[in-house]
Amino acid sequence: MIIRIGSINDLNQIYQIEQLCFLGSPWPLKMIQQELLDKNDRKTWIIESDKIIVGYCMVRLVPKEIHLINMAVIPSQQKMGIGQKLLNHFLDNTPPKTSVFLEVKRSNFPAINLYLNTGFEEIAVHEKYYSDGEDAIVMCLKI
Ligand SMILES: CC(C)(COP(=O)(O)OP(=O)(O)OC[C@H]1O[C@@H](n2cnc3c(N)ncnc32)[C@H](O)[C@@H]1OP(=O)(O)O)[C@@H](O)C(=O)NCCC(=O)NCCS
Repeated sequence: MIIRIGSINDLNQIYQIEQLCFLGSPWPLKMIQQELLDKNDRKTWIIESDKIIVGYCMVRLVPKEIHLINMAVIPSQQKMGIGQKLLNHFLDNTPPKTSVFLEVKRSNFPAINLYLNTGFEEIAVHEKYYSDGEDAIVMCLKI
């Protein structure tokens, strides 16, 4: 497995995984495209096997903070340690004294477990944050 920074060339593969992973509420193609543009305030980390993308993690950078805004592993390869590997790699490449924030649906146990496993802590709840009325759990990890 190789972990690298994504580019606009990865758009279609990422969009396919996004649709498989977030049934009913995938990000639109345009939104993913915006994250893959070569800008200073964003990065997409990609994990691939034999040049096939199996997971990604999108982050936004602000001074002393990073916001993890999207993360997914292709369903056929979930629960094999890929998400953990990708998250660890991204965190290993995060400068010291950075706070990493994310929001996750209250019912998303796989993701919440992954983040708790990695050292994230719940710091707040945004009630009815998502369009389906679900709460968002806000989590943070200080590097
Ligand atoms: C969340 C997600 C990225 C995890 O990726 P993954 O490669 O399957 O996760 P890993 O195999 O690396 O698992 C790491 C840890 O996550 C937790 N975890 C992963 N899948 C889980 C599941 N189905 N049930 C409970 N815990 C789970 C476990 O704590 C696991 O550690 P363990 O294997 O020691 O028990 C993946 O399930 C996914 O893409 N889900 C759909 C998209 C999504 O919800 N993204 C997050 C948005 S905030």
